[in-house]
Amino acid sequence: MAAPTPDTALPHWKILVIGANGQVGWELLRALQTHAILGVTVRSAGQAPAGLPWDALELSDTRALREIVRRLRPNLIVNAAAYTAVDRAETEEALALAVNAEAPAVMAEEARRLGASLLHYSTDYVYDGEKADPYLEDDPPRPLSAYGRSKLAGDRAIEASGVPHLILRTSWVYGLRSRNFVRAILTASREKPELRVVADQWGAATWCRTIAQATAHILAHRLGASPLHAPDLAAVTGTYHLCASGADSRFGVAQAIVRLGGGGSAGTPCRLTPVTTAEYPMPAVRPRNSRLSLAKLERTFGIRMPSWETALVQCLAKERQGA
Ligand SMILES: NC(=O)c1ccc[n+]([C@@H]2O[C@H](COP(=O)([O-])OP(=O)(O)OC[C@H]3O[C@@H](n4cnc5c(N)ncnc54)[C@H](OP(=O)(O)O)[C@@H]3O)[C@@H](O)[C@H]2O)c1
Repeated sequence: MAAPTPDTALPHWKILVIGANGQVGWELLRALQTHAILGVTVRSAGQAPAGLPWDALELSDTRALREIVRRLRPNLIVNAAAYTAVDRAETEEALALAVNAEAPAVMAEEARRLGASLLHYSTDYVYDGEKADPYLEDDPPRPLSAYGRSKLAGDRAIEASGVPHLILRTSWVYGLRSRNFVRAILTASREKPELRVVADQWGAATWCRTIAQATAHILAHRLGASPLHAPDLAAVTGTYHLCASGADSRFGVAQAIVRLGGGGSAGTPCRLTPVTTAEYPMPAVRPRNSRLSLAKLERTFGIRMPSWETALVQCLAKERQGA
């Protein structure tokens, strides 16, 4: 990815960031620079970012969601919020649908009413993972889990709304702030002598910071935005894959994590044992192939995403620095 630079073309945009306390949302606040942001929403007041106007918003409350959008009148809504508890969604599908499908449908409807655009994130879990090659954006989705179904329903609601939009489908998101695969392996490898890791699911682990930076780069540099004009998503409306380049199995990613940042009990490196998905059953079924083609992203926006390994090295270096 071409390194995104601080951009002076942002001040007159009116961006509403929904879900500012999530992995991607938190990084977006930095990547979009605070002066471009009209307001943010967080789930509870305790999570409010310093120095930004914020609203507490429970996304299943669509009346409150509409009220915030109508009051702030953004010209771009960036929705980084989602119900992401993949396994819990199997028993909470109604809540997952409310947050991942019904709320984005309302955002799309309200954005359209204002003449605004909507930027939304989606997931590799909309695909069934049976394809041998990386998925293309127009491959038919067939989610295997309640979470995947709820995210696909959100994508479809946005597409059907007619709002100018970008749906950015990403995969295996991690960062240093919250629970995710990288943090789980990092912590467990420092506490346990041995870990079993699934070796037959393939994808690209993606640092949330690179998602936010690529998003900002698309908005600032590729859509003809100027200090007086917010980016117009109409000409590029559609779904794009946006994740790290390259791919490996979860086991391969875990090996890199342990090599780069793991420890091990009594100073001995943690031993990793590859297992199959069948040997490591989880409530939600994951796709075996989560590889996403980045060709459309590169062709349309001229962005080359960093490899998953490069980004992991950078992220774990931040961890060592305590950043
Ligand atoms: N995580 C992944 O591995 C992954 C993979 C592929 C795609 N994606 C997609 O990428 C996007 C960003 O994911 P992420 O990893 O940054 O998610 P995340 O860290 O789980 O953050 C999601 C945010 O949504 C908020 N949220 C959840 N339910 C809510 C509700 N009912 N009302 C209000 N806010 C609510 C959460 O609030 P709290 O902070 O209060 O919990 C959190 O701040 C999502 O669209 C996700 O589906 C993620």
